[in-house]
Amino acid sequence: MAMQQPATRPANPRFSSGPCAKPPTHSLTALADAPLGRSHRAAVGKAKLKQAIEETRDLLGVPADYRIGIVPASDTGAFEMAMWSLLGERPAEMVAWESFGAGWVSDVAKQLKIEHTAHTAEYGAIVDMASLNYDHDICFTWNGTTSGVRMPNGDAIPTTRTGLTLCDATSAAFAMELPWDKLDVTTFSWQKVLGGEAAHGVLILSPRAVERLENYTPPWPLPKIFRLTKGGKLIDGIFEGATINTPSMLAVEDYLFSLAWARGVGGLTGLIARADANAKAVADFVAANDWIDHLATDPATRSTTSVCLKFTDPRIRDGATFAKAIAKRLADENVALDIGAYRDAPPGLRIWCGGTVETSDIDAMLPWLAWAFETEINA
Ligand SMILES: Cc1ncc(COP(=O)(O)O)c(C=O)c1O
Repeated sequence: MAMQQPATRPANPRFSSGPCAKPPTHSLTALADAPLGRSHRAAVGKAKLKQAIEETRDLLGVPADYRIGIVPASDTGAFEMAMWSLLGERPAEMVAWESFGAGWVSDVAKQLKIEHTAHTAEYGAIVDMASLNYDHDICFTWNGTTSGVRMPNGDAIPTTRTGLTLCDATSAAFAMELPWDKLDVTTFSWQKVLGGEAAHGVLILSPRAVERLENYTPPWPLPKIFRLTKGGKLIDGIFEGATINTPSMLAVEDYLFSLAWARGVGGLTGLIARADANAKAVADFVAANDWIDHLATDPATRSTTSVCLKFTDPRIRDGATFAKAIAKRLADENVALDIGAYRDAPPGLRIWCGGTVETSDIDAMLPWLAWAFETEINA
C-alpha cells in the first residue's frame, strides 16, 4: 500500500550545503543600510569592513594577536592564497578525506610541486591526525563537507609544532569549536554556516603564520590577488578592512546581518547548539530506520553541519539512481532542496544542519524522507 504523504511541510525547504539557508529572519530590506554606489575605501565602507572583521573575531573567539582578513574568491581564494604564500619553506603533509581536501592535495602535487606526503582516507573515514609530522606544514579540512566527516577535536595537533597548520574550516566555523592555538591559518567563506553571500573569503592568521609570511618568499610568482606582504612586511590594511580589491558592499551588509542574527541566538554557543540539535534530529531518524545510515563510520567524527547519509536497503540495485530519485521527489514536493550527495561523493543524501536551519524544519522534512523512500522502493 502506498504510504501517505506527511501532513506538514517544512516552513523552509532549503537544506543546501552551500550556499546555505539564510538566517530565518533574513530579508532583502534588512540590507538597506549597505553603502551601495559608494567607494569601499570611503569612511563608511571601511567602517563596515572593519566591523565585519571585529565582529568575526568576537563571535568566533579569535585571539587578539591573530589577524583576520577579508579576501577575494571565497574560501577557495582564502585557502589557495595561504598555500601559495606560505608553503614550500619546508615539506608539507597534505591531508584529505573527501573531495575539497583532495583538491588541496592536487594543488600541492600538480601546481606548487613541492615536497609533500599525502595522507588520505576513503569517504566516511578520517586520517589519523596523530600520525603526522608536525615539523612539516599540515593542510587539512576541519569538516569534510562532501563526506560528512569532521575532526572530533584538535587534541592530536601539538602546540609545540614547528610547522604551520593550514585549516580549511569553511563548513565548521560558526558551528564547531575551533582550537585557535592549534590553527595557524584558518579559512572560511560567508556562504556557508552563516548563510551569507558567496564571493568573499576570510583568512585568519596566527602570529607564527605572519612570521612565516614576513620571513619567507616563495619561489613562484604570486598574482596581486594573493599578495599578503609588501617589502617583507605584512600588508596591515588587508586585516583592517582595506581589501586587496573591490568587495561587494551588499555582501558585506548581508554578512553583518548574519553576524547580528548569530549574536541574537546566543553567539557561538547558540550556533553550535542549533547545529547539534539539527544533526541529532537526523541521527535519531537514522537510528530508527534500518534502510539509511551515516556515511561517517565513527560517530565521533560525524559532521553536525553537512550530514551525509547513504541508503543501505539490500533491495536497491543502483544506488546513484535511487538516491537521485529520492532527492528529486523531495525537491518536486518542495520539502527539501539541494540534498543530493556531492557529485564526487558516494551516492546518497547530504542534509545541511548548520545553525541557520530550524530544527522544526528538519523535523518536518524527515517524515517526507521516509515517504520518498517507501514510494521509491515500491516503484
Ligand atoms: C571544505 C570546503 N572547502 C572549500 C569549498 C569551496 O568553497 P567556496 O566555493 O566558498 O570557495 C567548499 C565548498 O563547499 C568546502 O566545503
